[in-house]
Amino acid sequence: MTVSSVLVTGACGEIGQALVQSLHERGVKRIVTCDMMPLPESLKGMSAEHVQGDLVFRVKQFYDYDFDVIFHLAASLSSKAEVATEEAHRINVEGTMQLLMLAAYKSEKRGKPVKFMFPSSIAAYGFPSAEAKHKAGRVKEDEWTHPHTMYGANKLYCEKLGEYYSNYYGQRHLDENPPVMLDFRAIRFPGLISAFTMPSGGTSDYGPEMLHAAAQGKPYACFVREDTQITFMAMPDAIKALLNLMDAPREKLTSSVYNIDAFSLTAAEFRQRAIEAFPGAQITFEPNRRRQGIVDSWPADLDDSLARRDWAWKPDYDMDRFFNDYFLPQIRKRYGARPSLRSNE
Ligand code: SER
Repeated sequence: MTVSSVLVTGACGEIGQALVQSLHERGVKRIVTCDMMPLPESLKGMSAEHVQGDLVFRVKQFYDYDFDVIFHLAASLSSKAEVATEEAHRINVEGTMQLLMLAAYKSEKRGKPVKFMFPSSIAAYGFPSAEAKHKAGRVKEDEWTHPHTMYGANKLYCEKLGEYYSNYYGQRHLDENPPVMLDFRAIRFPGLISAFTMPSGGTSDYGPEMLHAAAQGKPYACFVREDTQITFMAMPDAIKALLNLMDAPREKLTSSVYNIDAFSLTAAEFRQRAIEAFPGAQITFEPNRRRQGIVDSWPADLDDSLARRDWAWKPDYDMDRFFNDYFLPQIRKRYGARPSLRSNE
């Protein structure tokens, strides 16, 4: 598909920065970015226009623009959202609702659906107990959707809003031909790890925090127990998934929400990998009761067979490739090779 005009909200966040770079490399003509923060130096020259400020109050301005695709990445992540719940709801739900209304209006007006790409999350799931989590194994899209967090509840509800604006907004007789509506596509991401940026405000952050600390020779106290297990993914795979789903022909899609998965490991295995790569890394475990509870409610593994079937999803990085071919080579370039480093390739 030829995409000429794109809006990326949350463009200064982790996914945003990597995505803007990829869209630019793809030759997208006009990338408009929006974020509370100013655009980082590295993205200047890629964004045709940066709109800085609170999305909820900025959406009005976008009614004058034409976008083929909207990537709505702006969000308050799970740990942060628990300490400022109303604010999180405003950002996560109100911001999404405003943008969905814009996309619905524009789709109808131009007679062509605006694609609305939405990152959902493992936080949309929730297990009542550790036993249920371990028994469940790989979880499908429609199982265990009982989020324990404000962030997870917001993501799950916004998936429903996306489906509403794509299929039912305006209502009609079920036999009538549907008018042109927006084209909502969501991915439930596992914890993401980038070698270039650090997450903030999330609860899967212990993974990337531990690895970045080890690479810099800084001690790290992990805020979850050693046996804690969720699923993770390399940032390049997350970007690949967003772009592949964007490109997928509508008629191939049997769902508007898809799991994707790459590799699942415990916090102890993370520590082991970090120590192998950076001997002498000081990593201890000091579980935080609240954050532990959040991660314990998330699946250890996701069933992504629907994405594999409908749009040929397949991650490039399994656990070994993530460490050996992506994270370690890049992180060494970033922080410089310390004398104590040894390769585990
Ligand atoms: N990375 C997110 C968080 O920890 C989960 O999607 O909040």
